[in-house]
Amino acid sequence: MFDQTWFYALVAGVIFYFVFFYKSRTNRLLAKFPTPAEGHVPLLGIMPFFLRTPRNELLGYMSSWGDFYGSVVRLWSPFGTALMVSEAKAAEKLFNSQTNITKGNDYDWVRPWLGDGLLMSTGEKWGHRRKMLTPAFHFKILEDFMQVFNAESQKMVKILKKECQSGNTFDIHHFVTRCALDIICETAMGTSINAQDVHDSDYIKAINEFGRLAQDRSFRPWLHFEILWKLSSLYKKQKAILKTLHGFTNKVIAERKAAFLSEKKAKPSEKSVDDSENVYFKTKRRLAFLDLLLEVQAEKGEQELSDVDIREETDTFMFEGHDTTSSNVSFTLYALGCYPQIQAKVHDELDSIFGDDKNRPVTSEDLTRMKYLEIVIKESLRIYPSVPFIQRTLSTDIPLDDGRIMPKGLTVGIFIYKIHRDAMAFTDPEEFRPERFLAGSHDAFAFVPFSAGPRNCIGQKFAMMEEKVMISTILRSYNVKAMTPPKELKLLSEMILRSENGLPVQLTAR
Ligand code: HEM
Repeated sequence: MFDQTWFYALVAGVIFYFVFFYKSRTNRLLAKFPTPAEGHVPLLGIMPFFLRTPRNELLGYMSSWGDFYGSVVRLWSPFGTALMVSEAKAAEKLFNSQTNITKGNDYDWVRPWLGDGLLMSTGEKWGHRRKMLTPAFHFKILEDFMQVFNAESQKMVKILKKECQSGNTFDIHHFVTRCALDIICETAMGTSINAQDVHDSDYIKAINEFGRLAQDRSFRPWLHFEILWKLSSLYKKQKAILKTLHGFTNKVIAERKAAFLSEKKAKPSEKSVDDSENVYFKTKRRLAFLDLLLEVQAEKGEQELSDVDIREETDTFMFEGHDTTSSNVSFTLYALGCYPQIQAKVHDELDSIFGDDKNRPVTSEDLTRMKYLEIVIKESLRIYPSVPFIQRTLSTDIPLDDGRIMPKGLTVGIFIYKIHRDAMAFTDPEEFRPERFLAGSHDAFAFVPFSAGPRNCIGQKFAMMEEKVMISTILRSYNVKAMTPPKELKLLSEMILRSENGLPVQLTAR
């Protein structure tokens, strides 16, 4: 009896602490952040706003909150409260934190596909994997991918010839996406899906459908509850899609592993081409990321890296590595089509590197000479960041310079799209002006398309190399003209930035 009384008293004490101390502390700290009044209604908070606002108007509204309410705003709904950061100084605190590396709830919608791969994992598992995967993005490995970047880009140029000759207006994103898909499949898995020729393979359809489904789920708050989600028709659809996605990766892994093991058996003592410790350099042939993971598995054992782990990482590269780059390449070509003087400068630079030769493959040496193209790509990433939003769940309090505290346990969104439009960091932020990157005087955290800090993008060098090859290969053959002015683009704030009305362009031969 005595013991029970103590037990109940303890439970009551914990509840009391949580409700009256911890909760009230969190609420007290949160009350210091303004809530955009026009977006919230009593009892339901921000939820109706997200449900009724056309998706292509969300970026505009949310950007205006940053202008009117300051660097950090509080958004609440019956499902919880979140903060949204839209200024570099406040975002820097998060980026620099070594402990606040856990992703927010919004990533849960892609977890069924990616599992606990590098993008999604946290804590020790993430640290361990990041260390293991970083050498896979070594320059020597990336250089081997140049051949794939070139072959697929040249193929895209051939396919675009039809559009050019017919004088059609077409959405450049469709073509770039298929090329980027072929590149990532080849480099991540060492297999070809031929997306540029065969548009409707089951795997490609599944990738596109999975993205749409995850987006639909994120915009329907009732489907955030696992029980309601599992009762929905979308869940059944997702299950079928996952079967295709995982089935494809599993099959490729099994095939590559069998080939890898038999090769190892045939040449057990293949000499390293490099004296370094890097396990990835121990073979002479070009490896896909998947092969590099198989090398690690062979070296360190399946307890260290199982087949499921390999699938998660490979799927993560597939997901992170194609939509992001195709969004950026498409927006860059579109922007060049809007500003002919800037395009002329890119053409001049390419002519100085390649002369009249439209067919010679791009080398890594050429890439280092594409300095102007590089700042064009950066300016395009500033105005049209492929990843407009990222999210963290705080594991510790984060104090801001003005004395306010973002409290532990909270979900915080970092609004990259708005950070990039800060007039204090970039004069006339809405203007496309690549030269601003020559001055290089902006705050390091004012331009963060690849995020920053410990959880920055592991694939950024890969992305830059791939994009320079794709864009330069197109521009050596064509002039691009944009057929819709930037003001008329209906930008969608999805996981990856898109234009709802496409990126219509016309090409003429050079
Ligand atoms: C223009 C191209 C790209 C952009 C703008 C971009 C942007 C980003 C951003 C913003 C993050 C942080 C996400 C977050 O914190 O939630 C990220 C992470 C990541 N990216 Fe990229 N990315 C690009 C290309 C690539 C490519 C080509 C690959 C792989 C081949 C890749 C692989 C990854 C991975 C694995 C992560 C997770 C890293 C970690 O958490 O340790 N990305 N990327």
